[in-house]
Amino acid sequence: MSYQSSSPARLRDVIIACDFSNAATTCAFLDLFRDDKPFIKIGMELFYAEGADIVRQIKARGHRVFLDLKLHDIPNTVRSAMSVLSRLDIDMCNVHAAGTIAMMQAAVEGLTRPDGSRPLLIAVTQLTSTPEDRMQRELLIGESMDRTVVHYARNAQTAGLDGVVCSPLESAAVKTACGKSFLSVTPGIRFPDGQTNDQVRITTPAQAKLIGADYIVVGRPVTAATDPVAAYRRCVAEFL
Ligand code: C5P
Repeated sequence: MSYQSSSPARLRDVIIACDFSNAATTCAFLDLFRDDKPFIKIGMELFYAEGADIVRQIKARGHRVFLDLKLHDIPNTVRSAMSVLSRLDIDMCNVHAAGTIAMMQAAVEGLTRPDGSRPLLIAVTQLTSTPEDRMQRELLIGESMDRTVVHYARNAQTAGLDGVVCSPLESAAVKTACGKSFLSVTPGIRFPDGQTNDQVRITTPAQAKLIGADYIVVGRPVTAATDPVAAYRRCVAEFL
């Protein structure tokens, strides 16, 4: 089968989290999209199951790819791992901001290809499944969620990253602190009439637009929908 090359990159977009366990299920899901070429997020489950080949397969179908592996290790290890990932034709990848500025700087160095190009690199601030009281009680972070996310975002900017993953509820504060061009990529998206699942700090696609998010990451509201294409288009219509 041959596929069209990627559609023109949008600066703001809806990214579908393809949290599937194998390539066959993922490809069957992508086959549903005949007229659209959604931006696709590949997470740990799929990448660990299928390896780099799943990235090549999805890119060959003409999709842009966000490789969501959330690296968090010592700077030297992250630099080396990112240099391996830089050889894949991915469009976006990420690290945990909790790894420190030095680790994020190492990630930028490793990800930058010999010709100077690199995929977008963003930092996870606090997972959208983490409520503020657990962050304070279990992680011993005594600040508010907003202040913590903004502080991590400033660190990511200092390290030369392009933006952060945060809840849409924190997007506005991140933009105020780091400027409009610093990207905010926001999971925890739910339709007003849908289930929340394990997400805590959530919002709708329309609210994410109002708040100023650049990319929304939507998983189960699309992948588990009776009609995934209709659910994806609803996200696009409400967000873009
Ligand atoms: O199914 P759902 O819409 O909750 O999927 C959200 C996706 O975004 C998942 O793949 C999850 O790993 C990812 N994610 C998140 N919160 C973060 C970073 C990534 O939910 N802070």
